[in-house]
Amino acid sequence: MTSTIDGLMDQSKIRNFSIIAHIDHGKSTLADRILEVTDTVAERDMRAQLLDSMDLERERGITIKAQAVRVAWKGHELNLIDTPGHVDFTYEVSRSLQACEGALLVVDAAQGIEAQTLANAYLAIENGLEIVPVVNKIDLPSADPDGASQEVADLLGDDPAKVVRISAKTGLNVPDVLDAIIERVPAPAGDPAYDQYRGVLAFVRVVDGSFSRREALRTMATATQFDAEELGFFSPTMTPVESLGAGEVGYVVTGLKDVSSLRVGDTITSVARPASEPVPGYKDVKPMVFAGLYPSDSDAYPELRDALERLKLNDGALLYEPEVSKALGFGFRCGFLGLLHMEIVRERLEREFDLDLIVTAPTVAYRVRERNDTEWAELHNPADFPREFEEVEEPYVKASIIVPKEYVGAVMELNNERRGVFDHMEYLSPERVHLTYDLPLGEIVLDYYDQLKSRTRGYASFDYDLSGFKPGKLVRVDVLVGGEMVDALSLIIHRDFAYERGKLLVEKLREEIPRQMFDVPIQAAIGSRVIARETVKARRKDVLAKCYGGDISRKRKLLEKQKKGKKRMKQVGGVEVPQEAFLAVLSIGQGQKTS
Ligand code: GTP
Repeated sequence: MTSTIDGLMDQSKIRNFSIIAHIDHGKSTLADRILEVTDTVAERDMRAQLLDSMDLERERGITIKAQAVRVAWKGHELNLIDTPGHVDFTYEVSRSLQACEGALLVVDAAQGIEAQTLANAYLAIENGLEIVPVVNKIDLPSADPDGASQEVADLLGDDPAKVVRISAKTGLNVPDVLDAIIERVPAPAGDPAYDQYRGVLAFVRVVDGSFSRREALRTMATATQFDAEELGFFSPTMTPVESLGAGEVGYVVTGLKDVSSLRVGDTITSVARPASEPVPGYKDVKPMVFAGLYPSDSDAYPELRDALERLKLNDGALLYEPEVSKALGFGFRCGFLGLLHMEIVRERLEREFDLDLIVTAPTVAYRVRERNDTEWAELHNPADFPREFEEVEEPYVKASIIVPKEYVGAVMELNNERRGVFDHMEYLSPERVHLTYDLPLGEIVLDYYDQLKSRTRGYASFDYDLSGFKPGKLVRVDVLVGGEMVDALSLIIHRDFAYERGKLLVEKLREEIPRQMFDVPIQAAIGSRVIARETVKARRKDVLAKCYGGDISRKRKLLEKQKKGKKRMKQVGGVEVPQEAFLAVLSIGQGQKTS
C-alpha cells in the first residue's frame, strides 16, 4: 500500500464520480457549478464549460475527451471524472465509469429520459456504480420535475424523493448534489489497479499501491515501457504531486510521443513490482466506419499525410492507410469509431491543418470469404468488394430509440426500410416509448439519424451498440460518369434495394454534377449490367451572363466565387465532379419508399 509520501488522502474520504446525461441535459453546466461552489475556480476565472476545453467541443457543445478534476467538499476529496457523451465513444464512457464508484444521472426536467440517459444508466449499472439521480433545469417554465423524477425513479427502482432537483444554471440545490455524493457514493476500495490512457498524458486511476514520480512503468496490453515523468491531478489545471495513491484519480506524463502505444482501458503496472493480471475488460477499439479522404489539390497529398500522422498522435482510435483511387488519385482510407468521430477528424484536418478535402461517403467494414477460400478478409472500401464471393457479413448494431407514442409508427416504418429487425418495445410513461431494434450499421451510416429526426419532428432520441457481424445479401453497385467508372462512388447495398437506390443515386448525381460542354451520361451498374441511367445535358454555365452593365467588382467577385467553388471539384474522365456528388448517396434515403 501507500508508503511514506505526504499529502495522500485518507481513502475513506475520497469519492470518485462522473456525470452522465443525454446530450444537452446540462452535464457541462453542472460541472461548472460544482467547480464554483467548491471554490475550485474563482468565479471571475470561470469560463463557461471549463471542462470542454477543445474549441471544436465548445462549438458543438459536446464533450469528446474525458478529464478528471479534483474538488474539495466538506473535508472530502471529490474526483469528477468527465466522460464523453456520444455513442461513438461508448467504450470510453464505459472505461471512464470503471474509474468511479458513483454517477450523477442528470435528466432534463423538461425532456425526461432520453436514449443516451438509458444507455449511460445501463453502463453505470453494469459497472456496479451507485447512481445519484438528478433532475436539472427546474427553473424552466416548461419543467415537469415531478414527472421527470418519477421516470428516473422508475428506471432505477428508486424512490422519487431521492431524486435531487436542481437548476445547474442558477446553482439552485447544487450543494445538495455534493452532499448526496458524500452520503451515497462509497469510498474506493483497494482492488486491482485500473488505469486509463488519454494521449501522451495518461489519465489513470490508481487503486492498489501507489505510483511515484520517476518510477518505471509498463502497460500490460501493449507492453509499452516508460517513466512517470510527472504525476498529478486536475484542480482544474494540472497540479503535480510526488505520488498518487490507492483510489486516487489523476494523470501521468509518460513522455511517449505516439499515443497508439497507449490504449484507453489498458492497465499500467510497475516494472519493478508487476501486477500478475491486468484489469479485465480491456478491448481494442476497432473502427467500424470508413471513408476515403483525398486532398482537393493532389499536390497537397504530403500535407494530408503529415496532418493525419499528427492527428493520430492524440487520437488513438483513428486509423488510416494510403489508398489510390482511379477517380480521386492518392489519398487515405480512414477508419472511425462512428459518424461523429469522422466529422470531428474531418473538421480538424480542415481547420487545424488548413486542408481542402474530398471525402467519400462513409461505409462500414465488411467481412468477405471468397470462392474456394477458407479465410475471411475484412474490407474497408466498397471498391475492393469482389464481384463474386462465397459469403459476406456486415456489422450490426443494437439500436435503442425513445420517442413519444404517436411517432412509434414512423420509427417502425423507417426501421423496416432499413432492414431493421424489431426486438423489444416498452412504455417508459403513458406518453413515451422505448424501442429496440437490430439494424445493419451500413444502413445507419447512410442518413438514418437525419431521417429519424425529421420523421419524428426531432422528438426521437437514438443510441446504439455494436453487436457483431451477420451474413447479408449484399452486392456492389458501381457508378459510371461519362462512361467511366468512378471507384469512389461505388457502394455496397442489400440486393433487394439495389435497383431502387441505384436509381435514386443517379438522379441525385444528375442534380449535383454541373452541366458540361457535352452530354454526360450517369449510370449505376451491378457488374456489367446497367440498372439505372440519367443524363446531364450539355450547357456551359456562364456566371457572367447574369451581370448586365459593367460592374467590374461584381464580375470579379463572381469569378472569385466560381474559382472557390471549383476547388472542391475533381476532374473525372473530363467531367468535373463536385464534393457534394461524392456524398450524394447520403441523401437517397429521403426519396426511398417502403418496399
Ligand atoms: P453535452 O456536453 O453536449 O452532452 O451537453 P451537456 O449535457 O453538457 O449540456 P450543457 O451543460 O451544455 O447544457 C445544455 C444547455 O442547457 C445549455 O444551453 C445550458 O445553458 C442549458 N442548461 C443547463 N442547465 C440548465 C438549467 O438548470 N436551467 C436552464 N434553464 N438551462 C440549463
